[in-house]
Amino acid sequence: MTAAIVTGGAGEIGAAVGRRLARDGWTVVVVDRAGDVAARVATEIGGEARQVDTTDREQVEALVRDVVDRHGLGALVNNAGIEGAVRPLGDYPEDVFEGVMRTNVHSVFLGLRAALPHLMERGSGVIVNVASTSGIRGRANLAGYVASKHAVVGLTKVAALEVAGTGVRVNAVLPGPIETRMIRAINDGTHALAGAEVARAATVPYGRVEDVAAAVAHLVSPDARHLNGAEYVVDGGSTVA
Ligand SMILES: NC(=O)c1ccc[n+]([C@@H]2O[C@H](COP(=O)([O-])OP(=O)(O)OC[C@H]3O[C@@H](n4cnc5c(N)ncnc54)[C@H](O)[C@@H]3O)[C@@H](O)[C@H]2O)c1
Repeated sequence: MTAAIVTGGAGEIGAAVGRRLARDGWTVVVVDRAGDVAARVATEIGGEARQVDTTDREQVEALVRDVVDRHGLGALVNNAGIEGAVRPLGDYPEDVFEGVMRTNVHSVFLGLRAALPHLMERGSGVIVNVASTSGIRGRANLAGYVASKHAVVGLTKVAALEVAGTGVRVNAVLPGPIETRMIRAINDGTHALAGAEVARAATVPYGRVEDVAAAVAHLVSPDARHLNGAEYVVDGGSTVA
C-alpha cells in the first residue's frame, strides 16, 4: 500500500490517526516539528518519523517528494495545528494571530500545493484536512483559531472542486471538542476570562481522539469513494444544538 503522511502526528489526535491508519495497513509517515515525539509514535506504530515544520515550503516539498519517490503517496492528513490565544478581539495579539494563520492555514495550503500534482498525475489519493467545528461556527475569544479553521474549510472546497472527477478526493474533518491538551488549554483560557464555568456549556460529551481517527480512516478508505469536499463533522451533535 502507498504511504499516508500525518502532520502533527506527534500530537494527541495525530498519533491516534497514525495508530489507526497503521492498523488499517497503511505505511504511516509521522510528521511533526517535535521530532523526538514523532519518532516515539513511529516506533510504536511501526511507521516512519520525519521532523518537519509544516509552515516551511521547502521542508514540506522535500517531504512529499521523498514519500512519493520511496513509497508512493496515498494519503495526506493535514492535522498540525495550534490554538493560539484565548483573548477578546480588542486584545488579541497580532503576532499570535499571524502565527495561528501561518500554522493552521499556510501549512494546509503548502501541503495541498505540494501533494496535489502528484496525486492528480496518478489519478488517485486522498487528502484530509483536519479543521474543526470552529470552521463553521463562531466562538468568542478565539479569533485566530476560528478564522484559521474557516479558511481550512474554504481551502478544502477549492481543492475538492479542482480534483473532482480525477480520482483524487479532498475532504475536511471537523471535530468538536475532543478530550485533549488543546481543549483543556482553550477551556482554561475561557475560564480565566469569564471567571465562571462556561466553557463546558455543550450538552453532549466530548469526543475521544479515536473518534477523529475513525473518521479519517473512513475518508481515506475506498468506502468513501464518493465523498469529496465533505465537511465531516465529528462532534456528537453539539453543532446542531
Ligand atoms: N483537541 C480538540 O478538541 C480539537 C478539536 C477540533 C479540531 N482539532 C484540531 O486537531 C488537530 C490536532 O489537535 P490536537 O488536539 O491533537 O493538538 P496537539 O497540540 O496535541 O497536536 C498538534 C501537533 O501539531 C504539531 N505542530 C504544530 N505546529 C506545527 C508545525 N508548524 N509543523 C509541524 N508540526 C506542528 C505539534 O507539535 C503537535 O504535535 C489540530 O489541527 C486542531 O486544531 C482539535
